[in-house]
Amino acid sequence: MGEMVVWATALLESSGVESPRLDAECLLASLLGRDRLHLYAAAEERMPLPVFEVYRALLGRRQAREPLAYLTRTREFWSLSFAVTPAVLIPRPETETLVETALARLSELQAPIIADIGTGSGAIAVAVAKTLPHSRLYATDISSRALDVARENAARHGVLERITFLQGDLVEPLLCLGLAHHCDLMVSNPPYVATKELGGLPPEVRYEPLEALHGGPDGLDVHPRLIRGASTLLRPGGWLAVEMAPGQGPSLSRLLREQGVFGDIEVTPDLSGRERVIVARCTDPGSARSGVGFGLRETAGRTHGG
Ligand SMILES: C[S@@+](CC[C@H](N)C(=O)[O-])C[C@H]1O[C@@H](n2cnc3c(N)ncnc32)[C@H](O)[C@@H]1O
Repeated sequence: MGEMVVWATALLESSGVESPRLDAECLLASLLGRDRLHLYAAAEERMPLPVFEVYRALLGRRQAREPLAYLTRTREFWSLSFAVTPAVLIPRPETETLVETALARLSELQAPIIADIGTGSGAIAVAVAKTLPHSRLYATDISSRALDVARENAARHGVLERITFLQGDLVEPLLCLGLAHHCDLMVSNPPYVATKELGGLPPEVRYEPLEALHGGPDGLDVHPRLIRGASTLLRPGGWLAVEMAPGQGPSLSRLLREQGVFGDIEVTPDLSGRERVIVARCTDPGSARSGVGFGLRETAGRTHGG
């Protein structure tokens, strides 16, 4: 097995795969239904021919730059293992910053009501539900195939009974449920890649659903409706947390201010220091219009005032 991993590593390296050794090991471990440590213990064992044939086929797909997570059908997020299929965006480490930022706003609430808009694999909703055992969540997605994966993940982690998954456009299904002005937090990782950025993404991204990534010419196609929806869904004092591309902060801050009910606007960087999450607090709609309400706040992140 050891020699086979060395050979597979060279194969993947020659195709420009970024972490060839890790990928070669993960593919084989997943195929054998074991963890990577097992490969070291089994280094001297011969690989049976049927296993080799499947391994060779998987390596070929990885050489064509199909994402590792689609080949192993799994990705870790928030230290939990999530099922992924090509129907969903593969959860990214940056999105853990969104979860952390959002959770920090809820520290004083015992049983918050939370909406996850564009839930995809359900990574955010499940991570929040696992972290806050008394929370109640509502998650939407436009894609019914994505929602199937999200439900599977919620069941896998024992939180399905606390998350209602609904198909539809942004917050619309939740307003139909009568949740207007009931949510303590609305979190969303919407499609936000600008058209001109698409070409510069790693080849693996071509395999992910375009509707999960592409946010129109400036990446902000859905945001005006998303923010308007948040202003209806959130209770006064509730929080909105949205993942974004670095550089979108000023435009999003402007959209939030124009809505007239958001204050405490703050941008938080991800672990690599790039601006990644924007949060804002919903004021009492009445008091915001009369100029009273939450002001802009300077905290750990950068504040986009105005
Ligand atoms: C960037 S992905 C985020 C997936 C997941 N929340 C995550 O962070 O890994 C965006 C998701 O929004 C969904 N989506 C796109 N447009 C939508 C819309 N108008 N209404 C609801 N969901 C939408 C896509 O299907 C996709 O699952």
